Amino acid sequence: MSKKVLVLPGDGIGPEIVAEAVKVLNKVNESFSLGLELEEGLVGGAGYDAAGTPLPAETLEKALAADAILLGAVGGPKWDKLEDRALRPEQGLLGIRKNLELFGNLRPAILYPQLAEASTLKAEVVSGLDILIVRELTGGIYFGKPRGIRTLENGDREGYNTYVYNETEIRRIGRVAFESAMKRNKKLCSVDKANVLEVTVLWREIMEELAPEYPEVELSHMYVDNAAMQLVRAPKQFDVIVTGNMFGDILSDAAAMLTGSIGMLPSASLDKNNKGMYEPCHGSAPDIAGKGIANPLATILSVAMMLRYTFGEGAAADAIEAAVSKVLDQGLRTGDIYSEGMTRVGTAEMGDAVLAAL
Ligand code: NAI
Ligand code: MG
Repeated sequence: MSKKVLVLPGDGIGPEIVAEAVKVLNKVNESFSLGLELEEGLVGGAGYDAAGTPLPAETLEKALAADAILLGAVGGPKWDKLEDRALRPEQGLLGIRKNLELFGNLRPAILYPQLAEASTLKAEVVSGLDILIVRELTGGIYFGKPRGIRTLENGDREGYNTYVYNETEIRRIGRVAFESAMKRNKKLCSVDKANVLEVTVLWREIMEELAPEYPEVELSHMYVDNAAMQLVRAPKQFDVIVTGNMFGDILSDAAAMLTGSIGMLPSASLDKNNKGMYEPCHGSAPDIAGKGIANPLATILSVAMMLRYTFGEGAAADAIEAAVSKVLDQGLRTGDIYSEGMTRVGTAEMGDAVLAAL
């Protein structure tokens, strides 16, 4: 089996944080004899500058041929003035998601005990928090047709979108969620609005239909408004949450912020064969780009997710996560997670410390 990893540093702090993540990937590749082959490509503003498009044909070809993609981040003020939306950096990402059908978005929200003070919630509410949100990424109301803004006969304008999921789409994201739950604490909460929206009546039905295939997983259902409330009230009641594109967009941002530190949060976007794109949840942070102070841990933790989900190398993934925990134990902190009494380090120092801990 081929084991190709495409590395797309992108823009802003992307190249800085990806350089550290690649050091870590190279190290475990060697020490765990993973046999991964790495190559690089251009995406986002970097793609536009070099080839006139945020998703050069060569990059898309490499992405289609790769088993996994490690992405930094795209975008920045330099490209914000581009009139043509198709040339904007984020179209590079959307193009990869769409062409590779990366429908399964996995966003863990983990509060490291060493960073407990970073959360805006009370310690007893969030300490030990470790949940996973599985969001459907290529369907639902963000993609449904028809959509648009039209003028009615009485002259009133009306905006409209279509919320649609077919059972195939629901079943495949359901399987990702059940399988994720199997690898964790075997509790799955499906979030819908089945009291109001027919789409999610079907969603709930399909989740129930899948449940017997995963008898060890305890399936529950929750309406999205209650889920939002419960996430803030008692987030530790959840293990894995599965939901559609729009609810997932909102709930995953809320869940991420329970941990208080955007520089710590990795993500995965998977296709039906667990091929995937891995990236930090944060953006290209133009305000700190080029200064060598960005936190590389979200990207390093994205490498761990890649090894676990695409390559089935759980031991190597565990080793990376343990190394991250160890550098936090040592008191090393980049600016975004710094607190008094800790040792402030830059991007490369943090990467080197993770390597040393490995
Ligand atoms: P952002 O996540 O880039 O930055 C928000 C704040 O968090 C900034 O103050 C930044 O300095 C800080 N920050 C982010 N990552 C950090 C890290 N690793 N270490 C330390 N501090 C960090 O979001 P913002 O400012 O809204 O967007 C900036 C650019 O990034 C925009 O062009 C946006 O379109 C793009 N973006 C790209 C994403 C992607 O590539 N997936 C996702 C979100 C935004
Ligand atoms: Mg969002």
